Amino acid sequence: MKSEICNTKLLIKSFGCQMNKLDTALITSALQQAGFQLAGDISQADAVLINTCSVREHAEERVLAHLGNLKHIKKTRPEIIVAVIGCMAQRLGDKLLEHEAVDIVCGPAQIPKVPELLTKALADKVKRIAVSEKIRQEPPAEEVEALDRFECLYDSDTQQPPCQAFVRVMRGCDKFCSYCVVPFVRGREVSRAPGGIMEQIKKLASEGIKQITLLGQTINSYKYVAGEKTYYLADLLEMAGKIDGIRWIRFITSYPAGFDETILRAMADLPKVCPYLHIPAQSGSDKILRAMNRNYTAAEYLALLQNARQIVPDIAIAGDFIVGFPGETEQDFEATVDLVEKAQYKNCFVFKYSPRPGTRLWRAEDKFKDDIPAEVKKQRNYKLLAVQEKISDRLSREFLDKTVEVLVEGLSKKPHLDSAEGGNCPQLVGRTAGDWIVVFNGPESLAGQFAQVKIIKTRPLTLFGEIL
Ligand code: 5AD
Ligand code: SF4
Repeated sequence: MKSEICNTKLLIKSFGCQMNKLDTALITSALQQAGFQLAGDISQADAVLINTCSVREHAEERVLAHLGNLKHIKKTRPEIIVAVIGCMAQRLGDKLLEHEAVDIVCGPAQIPKVPELLTKALADKVKRIAVSEKIRQEPPAEEVEALDRFECLYDSDTQQPPCQAFVRVMRGCDKFCSYCVVPFVRGREVSRAPGGIMEQIKKLASEGIKQITLLGQTINSYKYVAGEKTYYLADLLEMAGKIDGIRWIRFITSYPAGFDETILRAMADLPKVCPYLHIPAQSGSDKILRAMNRNYTAAEYLALLQNARQIVPDIAIAGDFIVGFPGETEQDFEATVDLVEKAQYKNCFVFKYSPRPGTRLWRAEDKFKDDIPAEVKKQRNYKLLAVQEKISDRLSREFLDKTVEVLVEGLSKKPHLDSAEGGNCPQLVGRTAGDWIVVFNGPESLAGQFAQVKIIKTRPLTLFGEIL
């Protein structure tokens, strides 16, 4: 089989969150191991693979625009095979397969089948689909085993930034926030066995990985029962902390309700666990939080942050918000602004509410319409980011004249005009343990290494410094 496909060139495009980026990395490794090669652009490609995101309508529109383009290209090059994988594939299933440009539709739980699906389609040009029939049912054991084996294909050599890797510790989500499509495309929450996770981290460490980021949609819900013992996230942090070679451990994303203090204690006590918490609040209005089915109040959320700061004094906290949620009044929005001011995030991500078919809110559409005008959503988005920018600016100034340790990612992608001076060395970018972005001049060979940088200038989201 390998010899037939070794001249086949693939163009891979990826949309969406860290989970999707990880899936794309795994699929790329699997395909390369199967003998496929990567194409630089569409003109060289025999097949195009698009890993898709469904979390907001805009992400799906971008994929549909791509498919429109590919339909055009296929008029003159009908032999090109187009595979659509990921959340949109699961959500739209057969409907997507009907699209003129599409040959393969494959959901997130079926990604280990991608090399086989592609090989078959290249040979016989027959359309094929692999998605979960009943996405909210317990996944079959063989599917879980195949996915677990697939995780180990992670190729640390080709990952960017160097010396950093993502390790999935759980799949799916059982929280059912009323606006969110994830439980309907990624399925039931399933935690991976700690043994497999640790084996994977040991392998990564032996390949030179220094930082691992544990991934889960609601990572603090990690729970694995093995006989007498039940493993939680704090146990994983402790076990991973014992692995030689791993210097920094992060985990994303946390869910505020039921957040266990043992995680904060692990962060405080284990030197390798970075003092960084990404914990979306989504809104500061209790009425909206209730409509979102988030299971906490604004006061409870803020109490959790206060507790986190007491236990881990140097903790950096990041959040997500949705503005323009159905029924969000000016007063509700002001409550969100108030929460952001009190939370003192390092940074936060703000999204405009996007109605998603299949979610609880969509099905209850008479009750909750998408009733906030686009212009109001835009203004609220802008205002919230402006409030956060002031906070980020104040927090970043606290680093002035201090020396921070950074893990160097590599060359800075967009040169910063106001970078600190640094002789003839190129501009590099790295991150602190608290996830602050640091820009400084230094030799490119530092990529993947730790460096001490003295901060001499700050911007709201970026620290500028000189390497020591
Ligand atoms: N509309 C807008 N933003 C959404 N998010 C999730 N679903 C939606 C939606 N329907 C946001 C949440 C989540 C982040 C990953 O995306 O803020 O934390
Ligand atoms: Fe979506 Fe809520 Fe699950 Fe996050 S916790 S993935 S927002 S349903």
